[in-house]
Amino acid sequence: MRRFVSAAPGTKQVVDRFIAGETVDQVVPIVEDAVGKGLEVTLDVVGEDITTVEQSHAARDAYLELIDRLKDLGFGEKAEMSVKLSMFGQALEGGHELALANVRPVVEAAAAIGTTVTLDAEDHTTLDSMFAIHDELRKDFPQTGCVIQAYLFRTEDDARRLAANGSRVRIVKGAYKEPAEVAYQDKAEIDKAYVRILKILMDGEGYPMIGSHDPRLIAITQELARRAGRKLDEYEFQMLYGIRSEEHLRLAAEGHRMRVYTAYGTDWYGYFMRRLAEKPANLLFFGRSILTK
Ligand code: FDA
Repeated sequence: MRRFVSAAPGTKQVVDRFIAGETVDQVVPIVEDAVGKGLEVTLDVVGEDITTVEQSHAARDAYLELIDRLKDLGFGEKAEMSVKLSMFGQALEGGHELALANVRPVVEAAAAIGTTVTLDAEDHTTLDSMFAIHDELRKDFPQTGCVIQAYLFRTEDDARRLAANGSRVRIVKGAYKEPAEVAYQDKAEIDKAYVRILKILMDGEGYPMIGSHDPRLIAITQELARRAGRKLDEYEFQMLYGIRSEEHLRLAAEGHRMRVYTAYGTDWYGYFMRRLAEKPANLLFFGRSILTK
């Protein structure tokens, strides 16, 4: 499947909608353009589920190369990084320690240029390790963020803990196929859980980052922030590059902090397939574009 999708003639055109480029040189002008328009970014070097220790070192080096370029641009926290620990070898034998050892220099380098890193949430089996790494990194770099997923039953408890300890937390609906034993399956149930978690975050001590394109959740966020007495710089919205771009600009123009999750790199397969799965129309469009080439 991976080989077929990667080689299909119409793939590139559809991938380009969601992936900002393959190299640091290609993504830097996109960051400059976004910041020039009043947006902020979180940069993701695509990649996940690596199988060798060397690939973990390569992941570290790819982020260090990016940070080295960002240093000269002086965007500070306007350009932060998102990382997937499975790209740092979390699933390998001894992978928890390996991922921590290789992500730490990235967090350190980010802090040295005045910015930070957020740990993405992957499938539910990885989360205890992700939260433990997050706690460990926060001892030296308290601004390190993490992601929680509204579809998981465990997340309200995670949100309470993170909100009480003052963490930066991105809340998303969740993008992995999870079993009914651990996650809500019904969209309306997920949305309700999202709102309950939003309340916990807004009423807590931390910095909520609202990762969603859902207009209803955006309106609810604004209302909950108002009720919690939060100023515009005490939370932020986040959306994905290539999705509802007009809305990015509208919220920024209203004075909100709007951060665009900007993925780039060559190992885009997993990221791209999750974007296709989120919206049936994307699959139809993709199917048409490979058939008509
Ligand atoms: P929903 O899926 O209901 O979409 C609302 C509307 O947004 C749709 O009607 C459509 O208009 C538009 N839209 C949404 N997705 C689209 C798509 N793929 N293509 C075209 N239009 C689309 N997940 C995870 O498990 N771990 C993580 O670490 C992250 N990180 C992350 C960061 C950021 C900044 C965002 C915005 C999202 C994530 N996600 C994630 C993904 C998240 O879990 C979820 O799958 C998507 O955001 C889609 O959910 P929405 O909240 O946008 O609502």
